[in-house]
Amino acid sequence: MTLENIFKNINERIETLDLIREPRELYEPVDYCLKNGGKRMRPAMTLLACQMFGGDMEKAMNPAIGLELFHNFTLMHDDIMDNAPIRRGKPAVHTKWNANTAILSGDVMFALAGKFMMGVENDHLREVMETYHKTVIEVCDGQQLDMNFEKRAKVSLPEYVEMIRLKTAVLPAACLKVGAIVAGAGKDDKEHIYHFGEYIGLAFQLKDDWLDLFSDESKFGKKNGGDILANKKTWLFTKALDLSNAPQRKTLLGAFANKITDPEEKIRTVKDIYLNLEIDHLVIKQMEEYYGQAFSHLAKIKVPESNKENLYALAKNLFDREI
Ligand code: IPE
Ligand code: IPE
Ligand code: MG
Ligand code: MG
Ligand code: MG
Repeated sequence: MTLENIFKNINERIETLDLIREPRELYEPVDYCLKNGGKRMRPAMTLLACQMFGGDMEKAMNPAIGLELFHNFTLMHDDIMDNAPIRRGKPAVHTKWNANTAILSGDVMFALAGKFMMGVENDHLREVMETYHKTVIEVCDGQQLDMNFEKRAKVSLPEYVEMIRLKTAVLPAACLKVGAIVAGAGKDDKEHIYHFGEYIGLAFQLKDDWLDLFSDESKFGKKNGGDILANKKTWLFTKALDLSNAPQRKTLLGAFANKITDPEEKIRTVKDIYLNLEIDHLVIKQMEEYYGQAFSHLAKIKVPESNKENLYALAKNLFDREI
């Protein structure tokens, strides 16, 4: 199946999910969040890995949907935690309704995700659920580190990388591994596909940090500069702190200690320092390095090279993404 058809398939399945029931106040936000766009890269990864290892993609569809539900649940809570009003160009659930709604609808969404994860053949059930739960715990660990870092003046690059490995990279890694498990892949291959996803995931979060400040807001669908306003220790900030001279460092640390009260001025001041230090280019270089590592794992997987083409194509699209 072509990459395009795989995405079509996932979108159709998600669009036709019958999620709304009583009490509607609980399920309508779930439906709104899940069906409100999104790239669907995580379920695509599950199906693509399954396809690459010669499995029956239909048997990977339930966990693929489960993983997308889990991802959307994390976004619903993340937008409360990040005080982010817009998601995918529309009001986030906590903006459209309120925070309490986003908490409980998120909770039920997480439970629904678990139910879909269990929809695999008995032979694979335990390994799929172990992979899933390990990932869920790690995403929470990463999200907590992200919150802790907001309060800290400085964060080192290794600390930042470990935080994004947990909050972002382990999920695509697990999505790929689940597809591999369902297809009955061997132990080494499952490890390699996991690490491939992990490196793609690290690069993905660097691009997310870049897009948060430099994207075309109307395309990206999130508010520009939100990370700066929330004092997020992104790759841009962490690298800038490393490279800055004394006055730049003072301004950066001051801005992130809320010394600049006007939001637009704060964004402009920090952005100017990033541009001056060419952080916008350095981030792309670092992404290239992660891609190199990712592809070295993909190269070690023992399937015909032609089976890997769709995954290469997906990875390339994610590198160049504008949303
Ligand atoms: C957003 O993920 C959260 C991050 C890990 C950066 P995506 O950019 O994949 O979100 P959607 O699902 O495509 O909107
Ligand atoms: C997303 O990180 C990580 C999780 C949701 C677990 P971000 O906070 O950077 O994601 P966006 O930018 O809001 O999508
Ligand atoms: Mg966040
Ligand atoms: Mg966020
Ligand atoms: Mg972000």
